[in-house]
Amino acid sequence: MSYQVIARKYRPQTFADLTGQEHISRTLKNAIEHSRLHHAYLFSGVRGTGKTTTARILAKCLNCITGVTSEPCLRCPSCVEVAGGNSLDVIEIDAASNTGVDNVREVIVNSISIAPARDRYKVFIIDEVHMLSNQAFNALLKTLEEPPAHVIFMMATTELHKVPDTILSRCQQFEFRQIPVDKIFKRLREIADAEQVNITNEALREVARAGNGSLRDAQSALDQVISFSGTKITEVDVTHSLGLVSTKILEQTIKSIAERDTAGLLKVVEELDSSGHDLRFFSRELMTYFRHLLVIKTGITSSDVLGVSEIEIASLKQISSKFSEEDLVRFFHLLTEIEKQIKDSLQPRFQLEIGLVKIAHATRLRALDEVIKRLEELESRLSGGNLSANSSVSMPSKSPSVVRADLPSANLQRTTPPPKENRSSVAADSLDEPPGFSDSFARNSFEERASARAPEPTHGSIEKPVAASSVSVAPGQEIEAIKMELEKRRKPLIVMALEEARVAYEEGKLIATFASENAFSKRLKDSADLFREVGEYLLGQPLRLEVKLNGEAVVTPLQESRQAREKLIESVKDNPAVKMLLETFRGEIVDVQDATA
Ligand SMILES: Nc1ncnc2c1ncn2[C@@H]1O[C@H](COP(=O)(O)OP(=O)(O)O)[C@@H](O)[C@H]1O
Ligand SMILES: [Mg+2]
Ligand SMILES: [Zn+2]
Repeated sequence: MSYQVIARKYRPQTFADLTGQEHISRTLKNAIEHSRLHHAYLFSGVRGTGKTTTARILAKCLNCITGVTSEPCLRCPSCVEVAGGNSLDVIEIDAASNTGVDNVREVIVNSISIAPARDRYKVFIIDEVHMLSNQAFNALLKTLEEPPAHVIFMMATTELHKVPDTILSRCQQFEFRQIPVDKIFKRLREIADAEQVNITNEALREVARAGNGSLRDAQSALDQVISFSGTKITEVDVTHSLGLVSTKILEQTIKSIAERDTAGLLKVVEELDSSGHDLRFFSRELMTYFRHLLVIKTGITSSDVLGVSEIEIASLKQISSKFSEEDLVRFFHLLTEIEKQIKDSLQPRFQLEIGLVKIAHATRLRALDEVIKRLEELESRLSGGNLSANSSVSMPSKSPSVVRADLPSANLQRTTPPPKENRSSVAADSLDEPPGFSDSFARNSFEERASARAPEPTHGSIEKPVAASSVSVAPGQEIEAIKMELEKRRKPLIVMALEEARVAYEEGKLIATFASENAFSKRLKDSADLFREVGEYLLGQPLRLEVKLNGEAVVTPLQESRQAREKLIESVKDNPAVKMLLETFRGEIVDVQDATA
């Protein structure tokens, strides 16, 4: 078979053929046209991006029989020999295979003083130059310090950091970029057409993606696919022969995660497993995919930065809108773990299945976290107006000053600046309610009811519950009274938590039963001190709080009315006042009560 590998057959012969390194060809062409040649060039960058190719093109430019030119003739003996790698005056040294000092010294030092055999310049192309031994570097350095006029060095490396500074400082450096996948695709399309290979765009795009920014690797992948399936190639052929995970499967996985579709995820794993995919490789591909989504989320949509095609970006954008940045970061961490577990497990398939389901449900956890965080913000804002930062003593689990620091202060500035003498509390003040908010909302609801019982706390004071029982609570009314008191103390979150549970009161003890541990139950567990105080104040004895998990679904009045409430929420969304509130606080409607009912 006289099949010539694509990479060799399609090596660019001129600067115009070079893909994705326009900044380099432009500079080199300019230098040639203005006779500003250097004695030493250093080309760095990942493999298969055109370093050796560029060195050979430049060598042809220098030695072409038509004269030093940016457009060599490609026909003269010099051009032909350079292209074939057998020119007497263009000497290629692969430092990776010839690390022996003597060899390099022999080749460079001994032949350097000899004039070119036929051509204008003696050109040394040293590939993987970072592999040279110290002694070889020293020999090279000497010649670089005083290079004969007819000698030009072109060095290439994939590991720039391993090249000594002494060498670097004597070279003109060029960094070869990874080639954007769209450009790889275009080049592969030209090659496929020239080779009369019938391959769909989708399939070819997968091949381009497999190159990971290296044109040589993409071309080798195309070779592999052709030898696997002949000249008629589909996307399935490509993913099979290259062992790739298709974009389609990745998208299916993400979609199932977004929809928490456990069955869908299990089906994906089944498909991967039965078609013989490496599950660890899959989880790494999925990680890369999450990384793309995360980058897009930050607003970067350049195809070059992402290393994906324009077409993929549109779909990535749409998918990324389904997740928050936190989600994606969390997914990424979870996947890192899964990947490790798959590696160590005898049952990699189970690990992947469990891991993916975990990821899917991570979004639900986040939703609850989010709601709680917003409520905490609301809570701290409601107390922020009248209480100093010292009020944290009544909320030991979380210091309000920490919560407040999370608030976007721009939204919450007062229209009039706080008085000067209050400098020390400016930070807290600036995070007060926005204009119009405090009077119409906070005072009317929580405060008014509260003021009947407790003295209005004054600015800068600590809200201290009255020690002795000054209120009488009718038997059977304890739970309601406790909730009222918590509202008064501006703990809507705790009230909310109680409403998520089944609550019973017996003799100085409040029992809250949850179906399973969640953020609310945890929060209640952290609030023992608060309940003790509330008990002392309301009932004349410390209130003990017991949080239980019964493993069964707890049907609370709240859940019963959930449907009705959701309807109500829909109906108030268009109310202008509600809209304003939602926008100002980037809020979300958590509850609605029908005042007409
Ligand atoms: N920028 C490029 N433009 C066109 N083809 C390229 C490019 N980079 C690499 N190739 C293809 O890959 C092959 C190997 O490229 P090469 O220049 O040897 O890469 P490097 O020296 O950077 O590892 C070339 O023969 C060519 O077919
Ligand atoms: Mg090379
Ligand atoms: Zn020529």
